[in-house]
Amino acid sequence: MNSMKGKLVVVTGPTSGIGKKIASDIGNMDANLVLACRDINKGRQVAEEIIQRNNTAIIDVMHIDMSDIQSIKEFACQFRKKYSRLDVLVNNAGVNLTGKERQNSVQGIELTFATNVLGYYLLTCELLELLKSNGSARIVNVASTFANDVNLDDVQFEHRPYDAMKAYAQSKACDRMLTWAFARRLENSGVTSNAMAPGLTPDTGLFRSMPVKRRLELSKGGGRSIEDGADTAVWLASSSETDGISGKFFEKRQEIACEFRDVEAEEKLWSICEELTGYKKYAASNRKCQ
Ligand SMILES: NC(=O)c1ccc[n+]([C@@H]2O[C@H](COP(=O)([O-])OP(=O)(O)OC[C@H]3O[C@@H](n4cnc5c(N)ncnc54)[C@H](OP(=O)(O)O)[C@@H]3O)[C@@H](O)[C@H]2O)c1
Repeated sequence: MNSMKGKLVVVTGPTSGIGKKIASDIGNMDANLVLACRDINKGRQVAEEIIQRNNTAIIDVMHIDMSDIQSIKEFACQFRKKYSRLDVLVNNAGVNLTGKERQNSVQGIELTFATNVLGYYLLTCELLELLKSNGSARIVNVASTFANDVNLDDVQFEHRPYDAMKAYAQSKACDRMLTWAFARRLENSGVTSNAMAPGLTPDTGLFRSMPVKRRLELSKGGGRSIEDGADTAVWLASSSETDGISGKFFEKRQEIACEFRDVEAEEKLWSICEELTGYKKYAASNRKCQ
């Protein structure tokens, strides 16, 4: 096992499924962990479990709601007050909604896009200075091979019928596109930006609304364990084998092709994220922490 002693690592969505396993594995490598979670009690419970296995682990549990622009800004403010650098950011928190009705974030943005895309974008932007100031740092984005239905003229399903599955597939394609857009901007900065796909991992909370029988079928039909689903993200976050590698998409520690490589589309998505989060204006306005 690699040692990550002294490295500061943020994992979003560490309270369940793949993120919990990523956090646990990285905690076992003696990194200083920040568990960025929407439910502080669940986060504390995960921290205790990690410390029970490795009593030298140093863990900070911080609140963030990845669907809420204001909450992400507040998290970043608190983070910058506490820490002066960041070695690894693992963007993992995500939702796969069910139901026929479109759900919105507190800012009125379609909830899947807000959480899975704007969340990844804004948190990364907010922590970028700390990542860059490090000289060498890593961004790991948990994406998916289940990716499709990108419509950059209608990311929020305002002009096409809302479909939760399509919203999820679009969001996961967008996670990859943002990864490439960050990698381009971070070339020669020492900060790498990669995406990974866990593979179908039916035992996580993402499938909580699926009947148990169907989940069992998926598990038997080639579904992956949570441990295997998390493995590539842990490898990208920690291994010397991935030093300096950037702008790539991995599954089972192997680079795989990404069908969503299109600089023009990636930049259009970037502008959409900039616009919907108001990040450009906010960053230029000498942001103040409460
Ligand atoms: N499972 C799969 O087959 C699969 C396949 C490909 C990609 N992925 C990706 O893997 C990642 C993790 O999913 P999972 O399968 O491990 O699902 P999961 O067990 O449901 O875990 C999702 C995590 O994200 C957190 N989260 C959700 N919404 C949030 C919000 N608004 N703010 C902060 N945290 C939030 C959850 O917190 P709570 O504990 O509070 O709910 C939980 O910790 C996702 O990005 C997903 O798209 C999963």
